Amino acid sequence: MKNIVIIGMMGCGKSTCGRYLSEFTGLPLVDTDQLITERTGKTPSEIFAQQGEQYFRDLETDLCRELSEQSGLIIATGGGLPLREENRRLLRENGVVVFLSRPAEDIFNPEKLKDRPLAQMGKENFLRRFEERVPIYREMAHYEVESAPVKAETAKKVLAVWEKETGVLSLES
Ligand code: S3P
Repeated sequence: MKNIVIIGMMGCGKSTCGRYLSEFTGLPLVDTDQLITERTGKTPSEIFAQQGEQYFRDLETDLCRELSEQSGLIIATGGGLPLREENRRLLRENGVVVFLSRPAEDIFNPEKLKDRPLAQMGKENFLRRFEERVPIYREMAHYEVESAPVKAETAKKVLAVWEKETGVLSLES
């Protein structure tokens, strides 16, 4: 069974969606930021500050190599993971990729994004980064799902994709 890979801008709700999907399907959740934190003992924000962004991106690529050899996982990615072509290729190899889209104006909330190093440069910078990334997310994704006001509803839309792809019906259907 293929992995289901959730991509999208920081703060769009990928981790929450992943948790719901894991609950609905009974499949294990891998949250790339969380796994990197478990393995290094540092949050992405600490790694950015101490070793720099490139080092963090290398850790993401190592993880993509590992995950591309596994199946039946729900994978919630960090927002910048799709930026590297190699990561896009690796996760598509054995995964159905869903771009969770949400308007930038809804996402940009300095309080909620205070632990994201790349969201600390003001709204204009955030909106520009968003515009640059959307085509990359679209290039990687097999499906685009718009985020709904209620998080469980968003996850159900992604679940419908998973059911279509796997032919398996979950208890939530
Ligand atoms: C990043 C997003 C973060 C985290 C890091 C870099 C990005 O993950 O990986 O701060 O470049 O968009 P979330 O998308 O879970 O916030």
